[in-house]
Amino acid sequence: MEPWIAPSILAADFARLGQEVDDVVAAGADLIHFDVMDNHYVPNLSVGPLVLESLRRHGVEATVDVHLMVKPVDRLIGDFIDAGADIVSFHPEASEHPHRSLGLIREKGAKAGLVFNPGTPIALLEPLIDAVDLVLVMSVNPGFGGQAFIPSALDKVRSARALIDASGSAIRLEIDGGIKVDNIAEAGAAGADTFVAGSAIFGVPDSGRGRVDDYRQVIRCMRDELAAPAG
Ligand code: DX5
Ligand code: ZN
Repeated sequence: MEPWIAPSILAADFARLGQEVDDVVAAGADLIHFDVMDNHYVPNLSVGPLVLESLRRHGVEATVDVHLMVKPVDRLIGDFIDAGADIVSFHPEASEHPHRSLGLIREKGAKAGLVFNPGTPIALLEPLIDAVDLVLVMSVNPGFGGQAFIPSALDKVRSARALIDASGSAIRLEIDGGIKVDNIAEAGAAGADTFVAGSAIFGVPDSGRGRVDDYRQVIRCMRDELAAPAG
């Protein structure tokens, strides 16, 4: 599968969110990662479906990948799909019935994703794999941008890759947390094909040449790293 770069809007300038999303899409982003935090499942608060709806109304046509860090999960699934989500992922610990939640997402016409925290065993994927379109491996504990990459996530990506390949399904394998130009190749070599990056992209210093250019440089470096032979 072609590698996808998914900038996380959590690190964007929220006062100029529509422009930030337009800029990062113009810079070559493949999809937009939309982090939803509820100050309950995770100790932080971000944005809800109204903000996604506004981005759609602003004219954003890119694929939007909603990462729900909320508990309970089910009530918000429909709200986010109605607001324009293409992919909805959630944490199995936050749902009483993860299989049902995955089914709800597909029923409403979106792709269904399951998220694995650093402390969540990947074995949980086995009984649910037929209901999943995307597996998201967290390489930080969820709740904040700008945290350090947890290297043991690479083993989890390798295990997830083996399960996905054995299933024969076209399931995306996404990694989220602390992804930068200097570690993206390792994540790709471990088997990830979709790469969330917040601070590495939106936090890039302003060169004065315009943000599209700044973001394009980072995204291009990430793609070059992914294309370079391992070692
Ligand atoms: C963390 C979020 C991530 C975060 C990534 O809870 O799920 O998507 O925004 O940010 P960076 O790339 O800065 O670690
Ligand atoms: Zn995320």
